[in-house]
Order: sequence, then structure tokens, then C-alpha cells
Amino acid sequence: MPDTSTLTGRPPSASHLTLSQIMDQHHTNLMGTVHGGRILNLIDSVAGVVAARHSDGPAVTAAIDETAFLRAVRVGDVVHVDARITWAGRSSMEVAVKVSADRWDRAVPPVDVATAHLVMVAVDDHGYPRAVPPLRPETDGDRRRYREAHIRREHRLALRRALLDGGDEA
Ligand SMILES: CC(C)(COP(=O)(O)OP(=O)(O)OC[C@H]1O[C@@H](n2cnc3c(N)ncnc32)[C@H](O)[C@@H]1OP(=O)(O)O)[C@@H](O)C(=O)NCCC(=O)NCCS
Repeated sequence: MPDTSTLTGRPPSASHLTLSQIMDQHHTNLMGTVHGGRILNLIDSVAGVVAARHSDGPAVTAAIDETAFLRAVRVGDVVHVDARITWAGRSSMEVAVKVSADRWDRAVPPVDVATAHLVMVAVDDHGYPRAVPPLRPETDGDRRRYREAHIRREHRLALRRALLDGGDEA
């Protein structure tokens, strides 16, 4: 079991990242808007960078919570993928991601596109979980997000246990 006791805590601001990208025609669906899989790919990639920054090494995606797509993204829109660590355990981290978009043809504030919470697990050279630094929330927002992330973790672990317990029918 990873031992985190010797690691110094880090604030979410140390790994926070926003990636902005113009959407092109290579990732459209049959409707001509941007494919949801493209947005999920960006979410997963940016969450991976944030987890790697916090933990000083590679991290894999263990879970992605239910993701709602609130609005369609169009070719030419500038998508912003904003990711921050909300919670860290022994080897796992929760990363919260918010996706918004600037419409290419209108000077209006960015619209919300999607939100997601991911569990990233830091791994060593052999793919086994390794220890991550504790998270040191700094702001009231960091502390609120930490409490909420802890609740989501309890739910995920309960679900995981329940699925494993009832596991061999199918
Ligand atoms: C993620 C992975 C390394 C976990 O390995 P494991 O042997 O199950 O390790 P553990 O059971 O000790 O879990 C490690 C940590 O992840 C957490 N975790 C694992 N699965 C989780 C889930 N579904 N939800 C929430 N937390 C989870 C555990 O709670 C533990 O957290 P902690 O160390 O902070 O207490 C392993 O399952 C794996 O390699 N999965 C494939 C990942 C991958 O390839 N992703 C890319 C998509 S294809």
C-alpha cells in the first residue's frame, strides 16, 4: 500500500490547467457538430496532465463519472478545458473538469459545454499504484470541492464493492 506520510502537501493551484483549442472539421458527427468522444478525449487528456503535475509522474484513468453534454460544440468554436485536482488519497486523485466554448461567430461569454469528475491513479514503471502528495486546499472553494469530492469517492467505492460482490453472474 503506498505510503504518503513523507510527501509534502500541494495546493490545487500548483497543477491547475486550462487548455484552449479551436475545433476543426476532423472530429464532427453526422450532425456536423463536434463528436462527444472528441470532448471526452480532451477531458481525459487534460485530467491526465493535471494528475501527472500533482504526482510528478504518470497517472492512469481509473474512472470517469457520468458526464452530461449541455450544449453542442461547432466547428470553429474555441473550446476551453479547465481541470483541477479536488481530492487526493494514497495513490488516487479526483480531477474536476469543466468544458466551455467561445462561439466562433458571436462575441458572447463562453457557454458551458460539459463537466466531468475523473479518478486518476498514479502508477510506477510497472503500472502499480504509487504514493501521491496530499492535497492542501487553500481557498474556501478548494475546501468545498474537497468535501464534495470526498462524498463522491464514498459513493464510487460503495458502487465498486457492490459490483464486485455480485460479480460472477452475467
Ligand atoms: C487504476 C489501477 C492502476 C488501480 O489498480 P488496483 O490494483 O485496482 O489498485 P487499488 O485497488 O489499490 O486502487 C488504487 C487506488 O485507486 C482507487 N480506485 C481504483 N478504482 C477506483 C474506482 N473505480 N473508483 C474510485 N477509486 C478507485 C482506490 O480507491 C485506490 O485509491 P487510494 O490509493 O487513493 O486509496 C488499475 O485498475 C488499472 O491499471 N486500470 C486500468 C487503467 C487504464 O488503463 N486506464 C486507461 C483507460 S483504458
